[in-house]
Amino acid sequence: MKRLFLFSSVVASLSFFASSCSQKKAAAPVVSIIPKPVSVVRQQGVFTIKPGTRIVLADTSLQNSADFFNEYLHKYYGFTLRVKTAADTADLQEEGAIVLNYTHSGDTAKGAYTLVSGDKQVRINGDDAPGVFYGIQTLIQLLPTTPARSLDIAQVRIKDHPRFQYRGMMLDCGRHFFDTAFIKQFIDFIALHKMNTFHWHLTEDQGWRIQIKKYPKLTEVGAWRDSTLIGHEGDKPRRFDHHRTGGFYTQDEIRAIVRYAQARYITVIPEIEMPGHSMAAIAAYPELTCNPGPYHVGNHWGVYDTILCPTPYTFNFYENVLTEVMELFPSHYIHIGGDEAPKVTWNNSAYCKQLMKKLHLKNADELQSYFINHMEKFLNAHGRDIIGWDEILQGGLAPNATVMSWRGEKGGIAAAKMHHKVIMSPTTYVYLDYYQSRNHDSLFIGGYLPLEKVYSYNPIPPELDSTEAGYIQGVQANLWTEYIKYPTKAEFQLFPRMEAVAEIAWTPQKERNYSDFIQRVQTQFKRYQLWKVSYSRAIYELNDTVEQRSDYQGVDLKLSTKYAQGKIYYTTDGAEPSSKATLYTDSVHITKNAQIRAALFIDGEKMGPEVTRTFQINKATGKPVTLGDPPADKYSQGGAFALVDGVVPAHAKDGSQWLGWNGGDLDAKIDLGKTQAISAVNVTIGDAPGMWVYAPKSITVLGSDDGKDFKVLKQISVQENMGQAARRITVPLAGISARYVEVKAENFGTIPAGHPGAGEKSWLFAGEIAIE
Ligand code: ACM
Repeated sequence: MKRLFLFSSVVASLSFFASSCSQKKAAAPVVSIIPKPVSVVRQQGVFTIKPGTRIVLADTSLQNSADFFNEYLHKYYGFTLRVKTAADTADLQEEGAIVLNYTHSGDTAKGAYTLVSGDKQVRINGDDAPGVFYGIQTLIQLLPTTPARSLDIAQVRIKDHPRFQYRGMMLDCGRHFFDTAFIKQFIDFIALHKMNTFHWHLTEDQGWRIQIKKYPKLTEVGAWRDSTLIGHEGDKPRRFDHHRTGGFYTQDEIRAIVRYAQARYITVIPEIEMPGHSMAAIAAYPELTCNPGPYHVGNHWGVYDTILCPTPYTFNFYENVLTEVMELFPSHYIHIGGDEAPKVTWNNSAYCKQLMKKLHLKNADELQSYFINHMEKFLNAHGRDIIGWDEILQGGLAPNATVMSWRGEKGGIAAAKMHHKVIMSPTTYVYLDYYQSRNHDSLFIGGYLPLEKVYSYNPIPPELDSTEAGYIQGVQANLWTEYIKYPTKAEFQLFPRMEAVAEIAWTPQKERNYSDFIQRVQTQFKRYQLWKVSYSRAIYELNDTVEQRSDYQGVDLKLSTKYAQGKIYYTTDGAEPSSKATLYTDSVHITKNAQIRAALFIDGEKMGPEVTRTFQINKATGKPVTLGDPPADKYSQGGAFALVDGVVPAHAKDGSQWLGWNGGDLDAKIDLGKTQAISAVNVTIGDAPGMWVYAPKSITVLGSDDGKDFKVLKQISVQENMGQAARRITVPLAGISARYVEVKAENFGTIPAGHPGAGEKSWLFAGEIAIE
């Protein structure tokens, strides 16, 4: 019996082996291209690229594209192809070759190309050299994602061109210095995504990164800081690492980077910040500001009040700096910053007051415009144009300026209506320093920006008519690096959200579709593995909601996934979930304190970040609750119930679990179901002044037995501004019983001078109300 069984299982496995061999031959290569081309028609059959395959160029001007492809093959597959320039048209017919050529497709967009892979050849025809290069990027994405010496690609006919002419990525090298090896890698990432602009943020409060021969102290002094903040800008008290750090790029290194980018059809636009974000320059040359120093290079983040003074010395200095910058960077545009320049030092400066009077300027915003206009004139006279952050609109826009809209789209809309060129770069969609997983365990500047939100962005706002829309040059994503010290974290922030940015910038709006995109992103994950870069798997994150029960007894945790083939497993005791943990079916009824950890599993493999929710069950948990003034839309998730869902938010930045009032008060009434003794009310509030979130001035607890007549039980004032992110404030009560409890928290009010957002309304964040 036993022998027979063994025998039949051998036969079965042999036949399985045979059929998997024949299947392997037939297995069609994957066609999964990001950004999605304008048109892809798939044919039967494959074309094979192997070490003997030749690249034939119609013209030597296409060498860059062949070189890029060969470097890619060498790096990830371990071989390269021979390249030859065609002597005559017969050479262009060589069988088995990859032929790069020019032909006019009839497309008006620069960078159009066609790619045809057939039985005999792969032909990439570009309208121009960048078009051929983009065809090469598509060819790269047709390659299998596992290394081999014989690479089958699908036979396809692809016709493609970009939607926008400006497809940019910014890297902040001021907050943290990244070496030239990473800069080149970053440029390669841009190239691989068919993007064409590298905005290089080279000067900051915390570091000046570009060698300027005329002013050596800019790098001798300005490129180094003695210490760096540990933790978040909003933390109190602040802690520092007392470690000297910095670096800069020599002019030779910069020339090499610019050449490297040019070979990839990428323009490098340098940003030299003025008049704000200039502490490093001011530390080196204190004469640049209105008050005598000494100053030091910034060691924490945020916005510094000390800015450049609009004196002849400063103008002359920055003209000399820009003269060297123009020698290094052939880009038509020079970015002059212009963002986040507080006007306190100007308003208090006798020199600035005098200057404003002399120039008949109404205020310091107009003085900033005077500053920017001056620099624009200088650059225009040298054949260059300026780009500035949207603050350059305040006080009047310089005549030829291009606006980079970052504080939402408002600035970009206003500039386009004034017929100025615009690059859309709003925080809400393309700030890749924001976090992409709700369940992260790392330090971020703030803001939840998942892949789907990035993908949902259309850079042409509906407010614009077609003429105005024509001023939108394109889109740029920004990677600010206050909280990004190493390339691995930079990559993690970029990927996969850079895929979405690339597709926003390239693919026609009507061809874009998130569910199709997310399929291609999963193939892209395999390319990331080939590239050995780090990336976020937050797309596999579970959705979790805590729901109120109709019996008001405890709460229900609901978990879900978009991946139909996935299974959810969870634990309730804080242990790591595995595929041996409890299988989630319908919901988890929580009636006592618990820590739930859950994750998505596909074929037994844990796919993404865990959801961890800590429940603290108390008399208020799950009970009916109503609010006075509603919270602001963007901090209203979960509604009033979020205050009694048993989940205490851990971080001020954890936006999804907080209710937030901008300038308004919290007023919540909870029905405990029956009159009962209560000994304390705990209110979890946000306290993160760095993020404009302030603890309330006071908390008042009221009680009632009928839900109509409320009496004040206790009022406490709150010790302000401790900056502890999430604070649990206890209001002790003695000898009290009530059925209805009302909790009021009074907004802190206007943000005081010297703090981020000074003069604006502060946010009151409430996370949870617990009643004991
Ligand atoms: C910016 O994010 N301050 C442009």
